Amino acid sequence: MSRYRIAVLPGDGVGRDVIEAAMIVLEKIHLDAEYVEGEIGWDFWCEEGDALPERTIEMLKETDVCLFGAITSKPKEDALRELRPELRDKGCSYYSPIVRLRQEFDLYTNLRPCKAYPGNPLNYRDDIDLVIFRENTEGMYAGVEFYPLPEEVRRALLIHPKMKKFQDVPADEISLSTRIMTKKACTRILRRAFEYAKKEKRKSVTIVEKPNVLRETGGFILDIARKMSREYPDVELWEANVDAMAMWLIKNPQDYGVLVAENLFGDIISDLSAQLVGGLGFACSGNIGDEYAVFEPTHGSAPKYTGMYRVNPTAMLLATKMMLEWLGEGEAAESLERAIATVIKEGKVGTYDLKGRSSTLDIARAVAEFI
Ligand code: IPM
Ligand code: MG
Repeated sequence: MSRYRIAVLPGDGVGRDVIEAAMIVLEKIHLDAEYVEGEIGWDFWCEEGDALPERTIEMLKETDVCLFGAITSKPKEDALRELRPELRDKGCSYYSPIVRLRQEFDLYTNLRPCKAYPGNPLNYRDDIDLVIFRENTEGMYAGVEFYPLPEEVRRALLIHPKMKKFQDVPADEISLSTRIMTKKACTRILRRAFEYAKKEKRKSVTIVEKPNVLRETGGFILDIARKMSREYPDVELWEANVDAMAMWLIKNPQDYGVLVAENLFGDIISDLSAQLVGGLGFACSGNIGDEYAVFEPTHGSAPKYTGMYRVNPTAMLLATKMMLEWLGEGEAAESLERAIATVIKEGKVGTYDLKGRSSTLDIARAVAEFI
């Protein structure tokens, strides 16, 4: 029996291409693992009305960890149009499978390191090394949304004076999304961020919020952060509004070490930060809970490049490195990261984002050479 059972979910679009790249390096590492491929993605939505079938969830439960490629996600109406006609009136509704995975497995930390590897011509600056801790299970992604607005929801909201001006808007002319933040979720993501800063000797943790406008939820997490920061005398707590943070990250990205944010704000600043270190081709991500974790590149499925082996697999390879670290395979993780860094530094192979002509798999093979 192998030491690890690893679920592999290629997904669709370029997800399949980059997963193939990951398998090339994993083979070279000789990890004592068995790989189990699972069904997930846009095709399963169109055919079955569920992009993340129950059988896949059951399969994941029998594994130690998961490597995930990418999946297409589309707004509600667009998704419904692509559903098999017989399923259209069956009440199926598309919900991003990666968001579901994060919630169903309680993978509350979305860890997104953004590091400028030396020699990457796409680096915005060469001295950027920051890590984002994005809350991954609630906030604006809690999924409690309404359209049309049910009368009982409107009535309940009328206890708030600011709701008055919406009291006569017809139900089909008003939509509602909620930002739900619990003490438990705020506490655990902040704890992860502070513990990381302490362990890695980072001088600051920056909480990215908007408490001047989102007074209740923003103020709530900020208060928890301020209290918790007293337990970490060697780590400064910096507070930034999300809009200002977008500016500061362009102005002085090298000043930041650890950023912590609610789900949607974390989503936004992580794309911004990814671009500072070469774009989505270099941005990796770990969805980590207490028992299970799913590692993925931050990029989407880029359907127009499906099967063309054009996209940069570095993000996927760095996600694989994060997986090895999480499994406790520190040496393998270091060796993979060194190999990736060497390929970047040498600059002999490069995908189209680097103005090169190499394929996704060329990069993986070049990295495997250095392992
Ligand atoms: C990400 C992606 C996802 C998200 C999408 C694909 C649902 O943008 O991982 O950042 O919004 O979290
Ligand atoms: Mg995103």
